Amino acid sequence: MKEILNAIERAAIRIREEIDTKDIGYSQQQNATGDTQLQLDIKCDLVCEEEFSKAATINTIVSEEQAHKVVMNTASQYFVAFDPLDGSSLIDVNLSVGSIFGIYDGSFDVKDLVAACYVVYGPRTELVFAYEGVVKFYLLQNGEFEFVKNITLDEKGKLTAPGGTQQNWAAYHKEMIDGLFQEGYRLRYSGGMVPDLHQILLKGGGLFSYPGTSDKPDGKLRMLYEALPFAFIFTMAGGDQTDGKNDLLTVDAKYIHDTTPCFFGSKYEIARVKDVYARQ
Ligand code: AHG
Ligand code: MN
Ligand code: MN
Repeated sequence: MKEILNAIERAAIRIREEIDTKDIGYSQQQNATGDTQLQLDIKCDLVCEEEFSKAATINTIVSEEQAHKVVMNTASQYFVAFDPLDGSSLIDVNLSVGSIFGIYDGSFDVKDLVAACYVVYGPRTELVFAYEGVVKFYLLQNGEFEFVKNITLDEKGKLTAPGGTQQNWAAYHKEMIDGLFQEGYRLRYSGGMVPDLHQILLKGGGLFSYPGTSDKPDGKLRMLYEALPFAFIFTMAGGDQTDGKNDLLTVDAKYIHDTTPCFFGSKYEIARVKDVYARQ
C-alpha cells in the first residue's frame, strides 16, 4: 500500500505542474462517458498510468479516461480505479480541481475496496488518504506531502453542496434541500466534487448530493473512481453515505464506468436523506 501511496504522490506532483504550466485546450476525443477530453485530461491520465506502472503491487487499473481496464501484473494484489483530473471543465476559470483514487484488493468488487485517496489542486495541493480506519490529511510542502492531521466529521454540519440540474430534480429532493436551507445550511457548490467534498470534510460536515434526475436517473458520478472512494472516506471519517436506497459500499458496478446517485455527509444529514428517499 505504501508503494501505491508513493505512486499517487509522484503523480500528484506532476499533475500540479501540468495544471500550472501546460496547454488546456480540448482534444478531438471523447471518453467512455461521452465527455470531450481536454489535452490535460489525457496528459494527467498518462502521468497516473506511468507512475502506477512502476508499482509492482498493482494488478489492474481503470481510468475515467480509458474505455477498458489495463492489466499490469496478473499476479499482483491491488486493483486501482482513478479519475486523474476531476472537475477539468473548471480549469479555464481557475477553480480548484482534483484527482480521485479507489484501491481495491483482489478485484474491483466493492467489498474489496480497502483504501481511498484524493488530491485537491487549489491554492495549495492537499492529499487525503483513508486506510485501516483512519483518514489522514497531508499538505504538499517543498516537494513532500507532510502529515497535517486526522480528519473526523461532526454529527451535523452547516454546509450543503447540491449537485445536478435543479429543473430535473424530483420534487421530494427539492423539498429536502429547501428544508436544509430553512434550517440554516449555507450553499457551497463549486462544480468540482473534490473541493466541494473536501470543504465539507474539513469544516466538520454537511451534505453533498448528486441525485438521480429526470434526465440522468442514475446520476452523473461514476462508481469505481468517484462515488465509492468518497463513500469509503466519509464512512471512515465518522460520517455516512447512501445512494438514496442503499449503502454505496454494498452495491457493485456492473460496468467499469457505471454511475450512481450519491449522497455524502455527516450522520445527521444522511439520516435525513435516507428517511426522505425511503418514503418515495
Ligand atoms: P469530471 O470533470 O471528472 O468529468 O467530473 C466532474 C464532476 C464532479 O466533479 C462534479 O461534482 C460534477 O461533475 C459537477 O456536475 P454538474 O456540472 O452537473 O454540477
Ligand atoms: Mn470526475
Ligand atoms: Mn475527470
